[in-house]
Amino acid sequence: MRAVMIRKFGPPEVLEPAEVDEVQAGQDEVVIDVEIANVTFVETQVRAGKPPHPSMLPALPAILGNGVGGTVSGTGRRVVASLNGTGGYAERVLSPASRLIEIPDALAMRDAVALLADGRTALALAERAGLRAGDTVLIEAAAGGVGTLLVQIARRAGARVVALAGRPGKLAVARDLGADLIVDYRRDGWDQEVRDAVGEVDVVFDGVGGDIGLAAFGLLGAGGRFCPFGMASGSFAPVTAELAGARGVTVLPGAGASPDKLAALARAALREAAAGRLRPVIGQEFELAAAARAHAAIEARTTVGKTLLTVSLGPGRNYPERAQRARTGAPVTTASLRAKAGPDTSHGCPARVSATPWWTQLATSVSARRQTTAWCHRSAPGSIVAAAWRR
Ligand SMILES: NC(=O)c1ccc[n+]([C@@H]2O[C@H](COP(=O)([O-])OP(=O)(O)OC[C@H]3O[C@@H](n4cnc5c(N)ncnc54)[C@H](OP(=O)(O)O)[C@@H]3O)[C@@H](O)[C@H]2O)c1
Repeated sequence: MRAVMIRKFGPPEVLEPAEVDEVQAGQDEVVIDVEIANVTFVETQVRAGKPPHPSMLPALPAILGNGVGGTVSGTGRRVVASLNGTGGYAERVLSPASRLIEIPDALAMRDAVALLADGRTALALAERAGLRAGDTVLIEAAAGGVGTLLVQIARRAGARVVALAGRPGKLAVARDLGADLIVDYRRDGWDQEVRDAVGEVDVVFDGVGGDIGLAAFGLLGAGGRFCPFGMASGSFAPVTAELAGARGVTVLPGAGASPDKLAALARAALREAAAGRLRPVIGQEFELAAAARAHAAIEARTTVGKTLLTVSLGPGRNYPERAQRARTGAPVTTASLRAKAGPDTSHGCPARVSATPWWTQLATSVSARRQTTAWCHRSAPGSIVAAAWRR
C-alpha cells in the first residue's frame, strides 16, 4: 500500500512516498481504508526531531500521522480514529475497534478529520480555562487549526475575543469567526495595542510560546488564567511559577486528559459540527504523497486553519465522498449533508441559560437541548470565512 515514510529526522523532504507492507488486523483491531489524514503542528516538530518532549520521537523508520478518517474495511462504516502517534500518513491503518469514533451522518468526513485533534483540544482548553461570559480572552495563532475553534468557542461562551495572528488574511479569518479585536503580533508594540484597546485580559491561550507567549502573559491581570498548550515558536513561554505567583495569575498548562475524556471531547466536537454550531476551517488539502509540501507550508506559516492529506482514489477503493468530489468537482460538505438530513431538531433554544458551562455539558453527554443553551443566541460562522482567507 502507499504511505509516507520518514527514515531520518530533518526538513520536510525527509517525508518520502513509499510502498509498504499491507496492515493486517489482529484481535480486536480493524483496518481503516483512509480517505483523509490530518496534519498537526506537532508532527512538523517531530519530523524535524524537535518535539516538545523527547518521548514523542518515534523509532525510525516510521510513518508519521496520528489522526485519520475513512471507512472500516469491508463495512463502509464512516469513522475517525486517533492512532498512537504514528501510522496515519498511509492508505490503510490499524486501529483498536474500541478507539473508533463514528462520524455523524450530517458531518462531512473532511470536517470530522479536521476536528478530531483540534476539536477535542479546543474543548479541553475551554473547559480548563473555565471560560465565563464577560471574560476577555486572548488567542494566539487565532487563524490556526486550534485557534479558529477557540475563537468560536470563546465567543459562544460570551467572552470578548482578542485574536492575534501574523498576516492580514489570517486576521480577517479571525474577525469573520467573531473576534472582537484583531491584532498582528508580528508588529512591534502589538501588546501595547491590545492593552490600549481592552486593558488587562482574563485568559490567554498560548499555543505559540517564546516571546509572544511571555508578552501575552504580561497582559493578564490579577486573577487571570494563562493556558500554555504549544510552542509553535520553538520554545514554551518562559513563565515560571514565581512569576505567575507574583502577578496573581494561575497557570493551567496543556490540553491533556484521560483517553476516555479526550474521546468524549472529540465526539462532542463532531456532534456540535454536525449540528452546525462549530465549524472547522480547512485551509488547505494536499495529496498524501505531497505530505512534505504540507509540512513545508505549515512551517512557513502560510497555512490557515486545518491542513489535511487526501488519499487519491485507487483500484478497488470505495471512497464515496472522494468519488463524488471527483465527479462533481466540489467537496461533500457538512452543509450539504445537513440539508439532505432535513431540519436540525437538536438545538432548540430554551429561554433559561444553563449554569453549567456548555463544554462540560457536551463532555458529559447530557441532552442535546441543554448542551447548547449558552450559545443559542449567536449565529454560526458563515461561508464568509472561506472567502476571507482566499483573498
Ligand atoms: N497540547 C496539546 O494537546 C496540543 C494539541 C494541538 C495543538 N497544540 C499546539 O498548539 C499550537 C497550535 O497548533 P495548531 O494545530 O493550531 O497549529 P497551526 O494551525 O499550524 O498554527 C500554527 C500557527 O502558529 C503561528 N506561529 C507563530 N510563530 C510561529 C513560528 N515561529 N513558526 C511557525 N508558526 C508560528 C503561525 O500563525 P501566524 O502566522 O498567525 O503567527 C502558525 O500558522 C502548536 O504549538 C501545537 O503544537 C497542542
